[in-house]
Amino acid sequence: MDDIPGKIIDNSATIPGYHRLTVRLEKPIGKVVPGQFVMLKIPDREIFLRRPFSVYDARDTKLTILYRIVGKGTDALSRAQKQAPVMVLGPLGHGFTIPDLGVCIVIAGGIGYAGVRLLLRNLGEKAILFLGIGGVNELPLISDLKGIEVVTATLDGSYGYHGTVVSLFREHFGSYRTKDPTIFACGPKGMIISLKEFLEPHKVPCQVSIEERMACGLGLCFGCVAETKDEINPYKRVCKEGPVFELWDLSL
Ligand SMILES: Cc1cc2nc3c(=O)[nH]c(=O)nc-3n(C[C@H](O)[C@H](O)[C@H](O)COP(=O)(O)OP(=O)(O)OC[C@H]3O[C@@H](n4cnc5c(N)ncnc54)[C@H](O)[C@@H]3O)c2cc1C
Ligand code: FES
Repeated sequence: MDDIPGKIIDNSATIPGYHRLTVRLEKPIGKVVPGQFVMLKIPDREIFLRRPFSVYDARDTKLTILYRIVGKGTDALSRAQKQAPVMVLGPLGHGFTIPDLGVCIVIAGGIGYAGVRLLLRNLGEKAILFLGIGGVNELPLISDLKGIEVVTATLDGSYGYHGTVVSLFREHFGSYRTKDPTIFACGPKGMIISLKEFLEPHKVPCQVSIEERMACGLGLCFGCVAETKDEINPYKRVCKEGPVFELWDLSL
């Protein structure tokens, strides 16, 4: 893990409110496990703290993230021009573990897709993606995903299943139960909680990527803890022991 200077080579809107940022780094970021993230220094003098973003793609010296504009930092980032300097600390955290056998079911809600994109690329056709988005207008977010079966739920019913991605998954789950499934999920907390409620009686392996606000990203400040069922040391740092956890280890 290194702190690597780089320059923005692309920062364009995929759909309104969502940008894909590609940076040319001064040296390769090295091996990235899907689910790992970087702490990015946004090129704006008023944004002091770095922000965490999942690695969306990393090839040689090129690093890509997909981000949603939600506040001051991401808004400033969306206005950064080509050639603007950035610093990238990473790869950080504990990522997904890919099993040798069985079907891999990936569940992504909204910008949670950014957290599983590299996983999907590594899994290839072994994976099926259950995608939850607001409406058909958000479908271009996955336009660069090839060779993977995608089943989509939209909240407004404008494409695919009308409802939440967990309701959609619930309808399909029966056909995967006997196929030794491992579930991978990334999305809003409500999605993770309702997934847990549904899976509780089945107890299939499920790895989830969770988010907490982060300051250092390095395990030093303990500002990002999540409660787990570990009786001796229940509070785990999302930036160090996570962001990917076994769902059944978390106290949600
Ligand atoms: C490990 C990890 C990976 C992430 N990957 C991505 C990614 O690939 N793409 C992406 O768009 N975002 C990702 N995020 C979330 C991203 O870091 C925040 O959206 C960003 O830091 C917000 O900065 P801001 O200054 O724009 O918002 P702020 O002005 O700081 O906050 C605006 C709003 O966003 C909420 N918020 C801020 N940070 C977080 C957070 N970490 N989790 C949940 N809500 C938050 C605040 O509560 C507030 O409501 C990730 C977060 C973590 C912890
Ligand atoms: S952000 Fe500092 S310990 Fe996790």
